[in-house]
Amino acid sequence: MEAKELIEFIEKSPTAFQAISTISEMLKKDGAQVLKEEDAWKLEKGKTYYVTKGSSAIIAFHIPEQFEGYRIMASHSDSPSFKIKENPEMEEAGYIKLNVEKYGGMLMAPWFDRPLSVAGRVIVKENGEFVEKPVHIKENMLIIPSLAIHMNREANNGYAYNPQKDTLPLYALAEGKGTFMDVVAEHAGVKKEDILGNDLFLYDRTPGSIWGQKSEFVSAPRLDNLACAYGTLKGFLKGKKEKYLDIYVVFDHEEVGSGTKEGASATFLKDTIDRIELLLGFNKEDQIRHLAKSFMVSADNAHAVHPNYTEKADPVNRPKVGSGVVLKFNANQKYCTDAMSAAMFRDLCNQVGADVQDFTNRSDVPGGSTLGNLANMQVSMHTVDIGLPQLAMHSPYETAGTKDVEDLCKISEAFYC
Ligand code: CO
Repeated sequence: MEAKELIEFIEKSPTAFQAISTISEMLKKDGAQVLKEEDAWKLEKGKTYYVTKGSSAIIAFHIPEQFEGYRIMASHSDSPSFKIKENPEMEEAGYIKLNVEKYGGMLMAPWFDRPLSVAGRVIVKENGEFVEKPVHIKENMLIIPSLAIHMNREANNGYAYNPQKDTLPLYALAEGKGTFMDVVAEHAGVKKEDILGNDLFLYDRTPGSIWGQKSEFVSAPRLDNLACAYGTLKGFLKGKKEKYLDIYVVFDHEEVGSGTKEGASATFLKDTIDRIELLLGFNKEDQIRHLAKSFMVSADNAHAVHPNYTEKADPVNRPKVGSGVVLKFNANQKYCTDAMSAAMFRDLCNQVGADVQDFTNRSDVPGGSTLGNLANMQVSMHTVDIGLPQLAMHSPYETAGTKDVEDLCKISEAFYC
């Protein structure tokens, strides 16, 4: 069952860094060759390659015998969380807590009273080189405890959370002072005094689950957007990859606006396409002609109608969990689906017999945004915004549909034909 494999994929990927190494491992196992941006590349027909950016974004591509255009599926590796600040320990009332700040726009309430741990990376210097060491602490380590109802009788009547006060996780009693970075260093296999830099995040330790009367639901951390990163990867691995130059891309920093070197607004995808064109001996006109015949799918999860808040959804276009992948529309082009790209995607779904649903925001509520329109500012082509319908977006524990995961894998496989 794809949803079960998705849960394993998510458990190996507590942050964008681990997501990219998990994806790299799967590509490598399938025979893909790693390229480094700083090396000179030699590309051969019939081979699959991948290149990472900043350890948190990745592009994989397959060189076919011949091609007229690109087929690209793009998703993102990051999810909202709390980032641990420099010098994180704070002592208060005989406890040690950690100083953290918000990464992305999360629902804050569900982060309370659940087992949390720490993941990310640290940087050390070895033999004159800066070396990255992954950190993935697989133990319950922290909790953000709620304030008891007796100390805030108004707690159930709405509460404005302050991220500098309310959401600092508890780490130890006072005697544990000064040990947090030792624990991190130990898990990274380095000495604390050798750590020159760190990117550390909290992650939810709750295991993923498949549930419902007919196992129709899958709940797990980071379904937005690892479900799309996973589904499109399965399609990329299984697809024939003969007709087009197929590209699988996962950007980072979507949750904070994509404006970084690993983000969809930067030139990572464009530079990689320029480089492929150059190395395959094409000129600028060839490249423009290729892009004119290309198609990109921007895959990022969509809001399903919520059974307790049906009034929050559009009166007509209200996708349901378990009823198929969602096409996303927005007149103001936060989603870049237009008549042509919708037609191309619907036709693809028809070919594989997959249901497809439509999403629009209520006309009186501004919706979210994603990465398709930003990627288009660098490399323009027909682009469609899609995603799995899900509940509780940006909670640390989100809910989607098991069948929809299968459908995304199937559609992606057909896309990479
Ligand atoms: Co997303």
